Amino acid sequence: MSLDLSSVIRTIPDYPKPGIMFRDVTTLMGHPQAFSQVIGDLMAGYAGRSIDKVAGMEARGFIFGAPVAERLTAGFVPIRKKGKLPHKVASETYQLEYGEDVLEMHLDAVEPGERVLIIDDLIATGGTAEAAIRLLEKAGAEIIAAAFVIDLPELGGADRIRRMGIEVSSLVS
Ligand code: PRP
Ligand code: HPA
Repeated sequence: MSLDLSSVIRTIPDYPKPGIMFRDVTTLMGHPQAFSQVIGDLMAGYAGRSIDKVAGMEARGFIFGAPVAERLTAGFVPIRKKGKLPHKVASETYQLEYGEDVLEMHLDAVEPGERVLIIDDLIATGGTAEAAIRLLEKAGAEIIAAAFVIDLPELGGADRIRRMGIEVSSLVS
């Protein structure tokens, strides 16, 4: 029997700023059945589609992206916050729902033409996903899709990414 994922995602009002309803996935990660279901569902959507690499965004995109990569027999590409990667990087500045940040990726993390699936825990405004897409495109990747555990549709991120011509899926809205 599959679990209703919304029942294992905790909501924290006014975090990290007043007015923001923060969807806290640590409760989902800590629930063995829910975590396994999420990894299986993310993977099932893309099994058989010849994915070379899964790219995940720091920090929570690592937690969901790495097990999906392993189950797809794909490599994992960490897209990190500024200053964390030791080799030559591409950088993209982006706006968050609550601030601004820089994402970086090793320039040689993806070969031109490699087929990449982007995974993150949540899409809100889509700024993080758009920055990840720009980084992957700079490296010449072919982006197959972007998949999220949670979509916050009122913030418009999924539509923003679809307008870039990228397939978007999520497990819970
Ligand atoms: C959160 C979340 C997504 C992003 C979504 O990460 O994990 O990566 O924000 O927001 P957006 O669609 O409006 O860009 P955060 O930047 O808080 O980083 P963290 O995972 O390191 O906490
Ligand atoms: N939860 C977790 N991460 C987030 C959120 C949220 O509600 N909004 C933007 N990033």
